[in-house]
Amino acid sequence: MNLQIVSAAARDVDADWLIVGVPEGGEWSNELVSLDNALQGQLSRLREAGDLTGKLAELLSVPDTPTLKATRMLLVGLGLPSELSVARWDKVAMTAARQVSSKKDIRVAVCVPEQLGVLSRERAVEVLATALVVGSQGQDLYKAERSRFPFAAAQIVLPPGSDIGTVSAATERGRILGDAINLARELVNRPPHEIYPETFAARALQEAIPCGLMCHVFDEHRLEAEGFGSLLAVAKGSDRPARMVVLEHRGGGPHTPTLALVGKGVTFDSGGLSIKPTDGMLTMKCDMAGAATVLGAMTAIARLKLPVNVIGYCGLVENMLGAKAYKLGDILTARNGVTIEVHNTDAEGRLVINDVLSYAVDHGADRLIDLATLTGACVVALGEDVSGAFTNNQAWCDQLFAAAKSQGEDLWQLPMFDSYNELLKSDVADCKNIGGRWGGAITAAKFLEKFVAGKPWVHLDIAGPAFASASKGHREGGATGCLVRTLVEVAEKGQL
Ligand code: BES
Ligand code: MN
Ligand code: ZN
Repeated sequence: MNLQIVSAAARDVDADWLIVGVPEGGEWSNELVSLDNALQGQLSRLREAGDLTGKLAELLSVPDTPTLKATRMLLVGLGLPSELSVARWDKVAMTAARQVSSKKDIRVAVCVPEQLGVLSRERAVEVLATALVVGSQGQDLYKAERSRFPFAAAQIVLPPGSDIGTVSAATERGRILGDAINLARELVNRPPHEIYPETFAARALQEAIPCGLMCHVFDEHRLEAEGFGSLLAVAKGSDRPARMVVLEHRGGGPHTPTLALVGKGVTFDSGGLSIKPTDGMLTMKCDMAGAATVLGAMTAIARLKLPVNVIGYCGLVENMLGAKAYKLGDILTARNGVTIEVHNTDAEGRLVINDVLSYAVDHGADRLIDLATLTGACVVALGEDVSGAFTNNQAWCDQLFAAAKSQGEDLWQLPMFDSYNELLKSDVADCKNIGGRWGGAITAAKFLEKFVAGKPWVHLDIAGPAFASASKGHREGGATGCLVRTLVEVAEKGQL
């Protein structure tokens, strides 16, 4: 996408769609007043008629604007100026971008409002650039007639006389984040016969190299030699061999601490012998969203040349029920020696990332974050739009929450009391892989905690937000690319 930043009066901008934000209540800014003048009072008339209230993400299109250089105009509500936030501006920008991207070869121009409340102009530009990239990309990759098309050109319009130079870095950052989110979305949206451990790994290599990331792929023999007994057990029921992708960004010096990002990459989760019912299985191509998020974030971290050390790990398996499938009652020996009695083969995600976490700990990770579509229980607890967070180190978790807040992404922390460990006890092994009916998101996190050797760690359960069952005005259904931005932010700013 050709993305430009310009400083001009809205009336003089050449585009197929000119997008202008309108605040709810209060005075209009100079730019809106002068646009209204150029439109011979049309905006005031619409406001008086009650068609232009400025309520958050309200849309009103003006299909013919002969007195403007742009062909048509889309007005989008900003909500109350005092309530404008990153999350709200993101919603506004995404709604607008989605609204005007249903035709091919559209040239769009979006005005950055003069009054941004708590938002800096840089943040507003960055979020807008991301929305233009993400909002114009659909999930209908396999339809003869698509319903969404990347823009032919996009302009971010600042008020006349603005200094363009101060926001050019923000524009670039926004675009890079948008590309990273779209990469994560695309990988999740592609079907499981296309994306399986080998093809995910091949794609990761292909994306990583031009970004300047070091990328290594462990095949099943290497994983065996490294003792990934738990991860390999899950892979046994599939004809598709397991992989682990390691993506390394060394932007910091030798004394800078290393952050490890670990993603669950179950490219299809049938449930294994504890097979899922049809309805629950339908969307299980999304079960590699954690791995896709890690890959997306790593490409952005590298392209932004952040002066930090980050290693991304994707644990990749397909959970199937072939003749060699792992069974209920099997005892697995994980990489760190912990023995696990299998009580449910559908609790497979924790058996994949536990080995990856322990590998990361043994290979220089000073702090860790894992992302996994791990439990339906987390969706029951927090709903579809909020990720669960679990930690063994509150200070590190606080850093992550600060990053998420600055990016307008929602996390909620759940407890990690010792008493939950009781639920994981086994009669024959060190632990079992499920904790029973209650508190399922937490017992899954307590299970993972056994594999991080006390290093500062946060587990993010993204089972709800990673994949949306339906489209909404501000976001496409299917994969969402949630938390890519938060990971990039915490990699840059997270201190411990
Ligand atoms: N991949 C699923 C969790 C999931 C559910 C992701 C819904 C996205 C949407 C995971 O592997 C799973 O099957 N978890 C089980 C755990 C149970 C057997 C303890 C679950 O949540 O039912
Ligand atoms: Mn499962
Ligand atoms: Zn799963």
